[in-house]
Amino acid sequence: MDIVGLLKTMTLVEKLGQLSQYASAWLDTSLDSPLTGPKSQIKLTDEEYTAIGSTFSFKNATVMKKLQEQHLKNDPKKIPLLFMDNVVHGYRTIYPVPLGMSATFDVELVEECCAMAAKEAVTAGVHVTFAPMVDVSRDARWGRCVESAGEDPYLNSEMGRAQVRGYQGNMDPSKNIAACVKHYAAYGQAEAGRDYNTTDMSERTLRDFYLPAYQATVDEDVRMVMTSFNALNGVPSSGNKWLVKDILRDEWGFDGVVISDFKAFDEMRTHGYCETESDCAEKAMNATSDIEMMSACYFRTIPALIEQGKLSMQQIDEAVLRVLKLKEELGLFENPYSFASEEESEKVCLCAEHRALAKKAVVKSAVLLKNENILPFDKNKAKRIAVIGPFGDYNGLDQWACRGRNEDVVTVLQGIKNLLPNKEIVFARGCGDEINATDCSDIEAAVATAKSCDTVILCVGERADFSCEGKSRMELRLSKAQKTLINEIVKVNKNTAVVLYTGRPLVLTDCIDDMPALMTAWLPGTEGGNAIAELLFGDENFSGKLSMTFPRSEGQLPISYNAYKTGRPLLNEDNWARGFVSCYFDMPNTPLFSFGYGLSYTDFEISVPEINKTEMNSGETLTVSVKVKNIGKRNGETVLQLYICDEFASLVRPIKELKGFKKIELKPNEERAVSFEITEDMLKFWSANGKFEAESGSFRVWVSDVSTATENVRFVFSK
Ligand code: BGC
Repeated sequence: MDIVGLLKTMTLVEKLGQLSQYASAWLDTSLDSPLTGPKSQIKLTDEEYTAIGSTFSFKNATVMKKLQEQHLKNDPKKIPLLFMDNVVHGYRTIYPVPLGMSATFDVELVEECCAMAAKEAVTAGVHVTFAPMVDVSRDARWGRCVESAGEDPYLNSEMGRAQVRGYQGNMDPSKNIAACVKHYAAYGQAEAGRDYNTTDMSERTLRDFYLPAYQATVDEDVRMVMTSFNALNGVPSSGNKWLVKDILRDEWGFDGVVISDFKAFDEMRTHGYCETESDCAEKAMNATSDIEMMSACYFRTIPALIEQGKLSMQQIDEAVLRVLKLKEELGLFENPYSFASEEESEKVCLCAEHRALAKKAVVKSAVLLKNENILPFDKNKAKRIAVIGPFGDYNGLDQWACRGRNEDVVTVLQGIKNLLPNKEIVFARGCGDEINATDCSDIEAAVATAKSCDTVILCVGERADFSCEGKSRMELRLSKAQKTLINEIVKVNKNTAVVLYTGRPLVLTDCIDDMPALMTAWLPGTEGGNAIAELLFGDENFSGKLSMTFPRSEGQLPISYNAYKTGRPLLNEDNWARGFVSCYFDMPNTPLFSFGYGLSYTDFEISVPEINKTEMNSGETLTVSVKVKNIGKRNGETVLQLYICDEFASLVRPIKELKGFKKIELKPNEERAVSFEITEDMLKFWSANGKFEAESGSFRVWVSDVSTATENVRFVFSK
């Protein structure tokens, strides 16, 4: 397709149509009524309505085909619609939420899962997914931390890259979809953890912690970028020229499509940054934002802005060309219905192979947080098993589980029955699953059930609809009813393992001592129950590590392992109440569970790290190695994590920063040497000179299976 030639034939309204996106329900003329449809909602003219270039959130192949057919019939230029959706952790076969997937520290697995999701989505006619989300977050109050890879920039970068590779593959439209990284930028650090709230931070913090993951996906050739709702240092991202034009496009070389978040152009008025729709359109276009989602500032005001000479036709043309180029790359001009097919959907979605992969993902994402010799349960000794708690038969799916269906979800109760069909398995809910549940009237019956069993699986947590967009929480504790349930059950049966469903780190300080064993299941998706059963009864081993700190108290938030150093650090946690050092006088500084932490059914011994030289010059590399040995009785995997600290610099540096990780599998007694290469790039930061550079001086290096490891080596870097 000669898209440059096509562009020359297009009217301004047709061009603006390519830059406007509305939800699919608004495009279905058969649904258009005085109450629905863009014509009535935002008063588009017939011409504008026909020119709309893309849509999102549609049900299936039948809807896609119907909308495309209707559009092509009316559009004089026959430019196919582009179909987008939120394929975030699976299309129909749902694997764990991204926060859980990042706990796998397994980039190949993440890539494989995204490729599977793309394959399913293609059969429905999806061309672009609004994923990956790489908003680094250190604040568990923010419900959307469930969509990210947690608190670390490097882990978010690696997980973001893996997702882009998985979705986009070779951009073969028969099995791949384009990825759209979001929400650019720093949406994850909304003040006080309150969704959509403003974000204010220094440029160095932005550059060192929040921007790297978006840039990593640009380096991986992500096709689209979505800007965020929040204002960053006073400028909403939709109209932030510095962020979009100067950094994303000019500095990083991104030449793909930039889309706004839902109605975010128009919301620049509510931010108090723009007074009129025209102002919104001008600022957004000058920032090189291409597609406006769910508002109509472009449609309504760009013609006049061009007439007044405030915007040029060239700016519009460049934006339209980026959209047309993507349509061309996706093969839409030749094949507007793509590979949408209900028949194919039936075959591909939820097939045995996909379910097996989703199950593997649950196994790898689960994190064992505590185990007082309770797990794994012994299948032979377990005769009568109690599944207790409001999450025992929970089949909830979160907001971003795309076309996943609750009825396809394997609950813990079902998973245990599938694994142990010949055992007696009983269930008691005990209490409700609301975050503020106080009704304890069913606990007595649950206690009686626990008493009558030899093995108890106690499923508690936070429902999927509480950690998602717009769902920030001030208190991250389990409900009073759930805490009472745990306490009462364990009193009568110590052979109890707690399974925690959650989309964010919770504050478990006031109930952790009651729990003999605890695992996070996250929000595990379709195959949750089957995988959890296999983990609890030892058919599988745990290998997940936390990608986000579990605080002791909400008062510690924001918290992350890679905080900046202070002049008065708390060097001895036993002295935490002494004062005049950087600490709280009512609680230790340390979290309940640290970044990188997770237990296994086996034990690993890791040697003190060694380096091949103590001095490294610019352009050189250095190798740090450890020996890791499985000293337990069964096969296991662990994640070796490389941390570096720049000891003295032109600006205060973090205590330590993750710079690499490797997942290692070992048999009992097996030992292996594992090494990491340290490059100059790993030492770079946004320095006092306002650029990325490594500074001469000493560095410390840790290699271990948790961020709190103490053994380290030192080397000196010279420029
Ligand atoms: C969310 C985005 C999402 C978009 C489209 C917005 O509310 O912030 O993450 O992709 O809606 O569904």
